[in-house]
Amino acid sequence: MYHTALAHLFRSSVNEQEHAPIHPPFAGEETSMSTAAAPDLPADIAKAMRALEVRYGTPWSAPLPSWNDTLDTLLAHRSVRSYAHRPLPEGTLETLIAAAQSASTSSNLQTWSVVAIENPERKARLAELAGGQSHVREAPLFLVWLADLARLEAAGARSGASVEGLHYLETLVVGIIDAALAAQNAVVALESLGMSTVYIGGIRNRPEQVAAELGLPPRVLPVFGMCVGYPDETRPAEVKPRLPQAVVLHREQYDAPSQAAAITQYDEIMSGFQTSQGLSAAGWTSRSLARWRSRESLHGRDRLREALNALGFELR
Ligand SMILES: Cc1cc2nc3c(=O)[nH]c(=O)nc-3n(C[C@H](O)[C@H](O)[C@H](O)COP(=O)(O)O)c2cc1C
Repeated sequence: MYHTALAHLFRSSVNEQEHAPIHPPFAGEETSMSTAAAPDLPADIAKAMRALEVRYGTPWSAPLPSWNDTLDTLLAHRSVRSYAHRPLPEGTLETLIAAAQSASTSSNLQTWSVVAIENPERKARLAELAGGQSHVREAPLFLVWLADLARLEAAGARSGASVEGLHYLETLVVGIIDAALAAQNAVVALESLGMSTVYIGGIRNRPEQVAAELGLPPRVLPVFGMCVGYPDETRPAEVKPRLPQAVVLHREQYDAPSQAAAITQYDEIMSGFQTSQGLSAAGWTSRSLARWRSRESLHGRDRLREALNALGFELR
């Protein structure tokens, strides 16, 4: 009964969007568990409540300070793995890079770069290196986001400056954070324009081969890939519910004991979501733990330290 109500919620959530921004429809929708279905709510608030309800798979109870198109875009995010045969508009790449470069960057060091790949043969090779992910091949644009310590190293060599700090783990962490912040800005920009993405962590399965394919210099790490394209409307992706805020939001101090009950509730929500997607209703906990079950379940990334050393990172 609970799952049936949720399945209806997930089915009704998406994919009648025009282009930007995408958001779950609200008007006229009612579900048995919907706070957003109250008829006297202003339309924008009702839409917001609906988006929050779909994001968590439960009614939303906190007050909303206000709402806007940016929040609409963020709340409606979903990874897309099926792309339309539709070229990206001219200037898409440059626009998403401008959005990416607008992200904060540690000390303005800008220790990231990105390689844009449209060549079908290269995409096919990268798809295989990433564990045979067909969407890498099918997306019109594939981006590989890089933690790039080589640029500043080269600047140091040109000016004769010491770059000892380059060799510390901290510096690589900075580069990885910078790359991730830039990439997520690109995701939001693309989704605001009606396009879709999926991150590809599989690019770290075989980092040395990816580095060779992309001609990377030493001390440049492929952090993750990203497929970019218009979503295939015949195979729509749905908004995937997230952990309850009670699990991730800690007030003043970290609260471990109260997490288990909320995670049990989320397992039920995810089972309902998985059922609505035609997947086995495993829930969140068991699916997630399977990713950590063994060394083999890391798909080659268990040797990341060795790969990093081979790519020129000393990790002092
Ligand atoms: C760093 C990172 C790496 C990911 N790697 C992959 C991947 O290799 N293949 C894939 O299909 N999805 C990948 N994903 C997508 C996640 O599976 C997805 O974001 C998650 O299941 C939540 O779904 P949603 O993005 O639709 O909300 C990755 C996401 C992130 C953030």
